[in-house]
Amino acid sequence: MERKKQKVVIAGGGSTYTAGIVTMLLENTDVFPIECIKLYDNNAERQEKVAKACEIIAREINPDVKFSWTTDPEEAFTDIDFVMAQIRVGLYALREQDEKIPLNHGVVGQETCGPGGIAYGLRTIGAVIEMIDYMEKYSPNAWMLNYSNPAAIVAEACRRLRPDSRIINICDMPVCLEEIFARILGLGSRKKFDVRYYGLNHFGWWTSIEDKEGNDLMPALKKYCAERGYEEFTPAGQHKESSWLDTMRAAKQLIEIEPETLPNTYLKYYLMQDETVEHADKNYTRANEIMDRREKDVFAECDRIVEAGTAKGTFFAASEHSQFIVELACALAFNTKERFLLIVPNNGAIENFDQDAMVEIPCIVGKDRVEPMSIGRIPTFQKGLMEQQVASEKLAVEAWIEQSYQKAWQSLTMNKTVPSAKVAKEILDDLIEANKEFWPPLN
Ligand code: NAD
Ligand code: G6P
Ligand code: MN
Repeated sequence: MERKKQKVVIAGGGSTYTAGIVTMLLENTDVFPIECIKLYDNNAERQEKVAKACEIIAREINPDVKFSWTTDPEEAFTDIDFVMAQIRVGLYALREQDEKIPLNHGVVGQETCGPGGIAYGLRTIGAVIEMIDYMEKYSPNAWMLNYSNPAAIVAEACRRLRPDSRIINICDMPVCLEEIFARILGLGSRKKFDVRYYGLNHFGWWTSIEDKEGNDLMPALKKYCAERGYEEFTPAGQHKESSWLDTMRAAKQLIEIEPETLPNTYLKYYLMQDETVEHADKNYTRANEIMDRREKDVFAECDRIVEAGTAKGTFFAASEHSQFIVELACALAFNTKERFLLIVPNNGAIENFDQDAMVEIPCIVGKDRVEPMSIGRIPTFQKGLMEQQVASEKLAVEAWIEQSYQKAWQSLTMNKTVPSAKVAKEILDDLIEANKEFWPPLN
């Protein structure tokens, strides 16, 4: 049967990732046919810069695809099959605060982990729920594939507030690391192996990696990781910048603590808190690095394309980030039954873990459905860490729903990155001040 042409809206149209996703969509219409791509953002000026460049990219790669952009939710969400969401509430200016405020109190300052992640979560829940409601009003059969961070807290908020909605929360860190594994193994692509993995978002472990003949690739990867972490020498890219290289090297210490599995690099923030803080520059964090580099580069490239009237020679390209979200859409639309790591309700998949937790596990994705794979029982070390972290995430969502200062304080206190209730309170009070425009009032 001929595949029906899909209609896609990219929410957070002004994102630094938009051009990559648009390129991926345009280049793969033989497997995922596209009728139209719309961009949607609440910041007209930012989005227009990206949109005008993407319009040229679209014309040059695939002129049959209709391309448009809007800030009107009705226009954006009407008559679509997929929402690919990637909003950043508060932009990089607030990410900078998320990173710097905890650091000022001697605590890990990170976009999605610890107090910074909680702060970002309390900013984002309302905006994601609003987008789900637009989608359900204007295109009730559509799916939302959501990259908007912090994915763990956003996913928990979806479970609590819109449990029956067609939203799937996703993360690109496992696929990016799996591409690194493939290069370490000399295999060229992560498609050459199948993985087993479990955990929470930005908080998980690989338990098995096998090639298509069933050969165990874990021993070689564990050996490499124990010697070098995930550091490898490949051309430049997002995860090759110096601050990311430190994180890649940290895997060497993480695997010492838990040698049976391969760690997600984000565990560094929970297990190497002291070192992370010691190595941080509290006056110049990752947000500053991005504002000075990626954000500037992306917008300069958009201007260049518009001025030249062509995208010839552009650095905008499809990557594992864009490939993941488009392949997931393809699976839901065309029943590919591919396996993806997704953030889904546990519901028994991890036998000895909270049934109501949102966990990141392999799922088989077919036409309009997601079937999580069974994980079985997990060891005490991982279970204990995950229980503490999921409690912190649940308390953050409860704080937002109930507008509760007490629960927000408990959420920070519960987080393994924070040393005491006293420090949690000091950080929380600073975060409240910085997030006045975005958080509900906490009583
Ligand atoms: P960015 O700031 O460049 O872009 C985000 C865009 O979202 C901006 O144009 C902004 O105006 C828009 N926006 C903010 N609030 C909005 C709202 N309520 N409605 C519509 N649009 C809104 O950010 P970026 O660095 O490109 O990242 C985008 C998002 O993707 C972030 O949340 C980031 O953390 C996330 N991300 C997630 C993963 C993952 O693994 N889940 C991977 C990469 C990026
Ligand atoms: C990984 C994670 C994302 C996160 C990103 C941050 O890809 O999976 O959730 O947003 O890294 O990267 P950055 O370059 O913005 O620090
Ligand atoms: Mn992620």
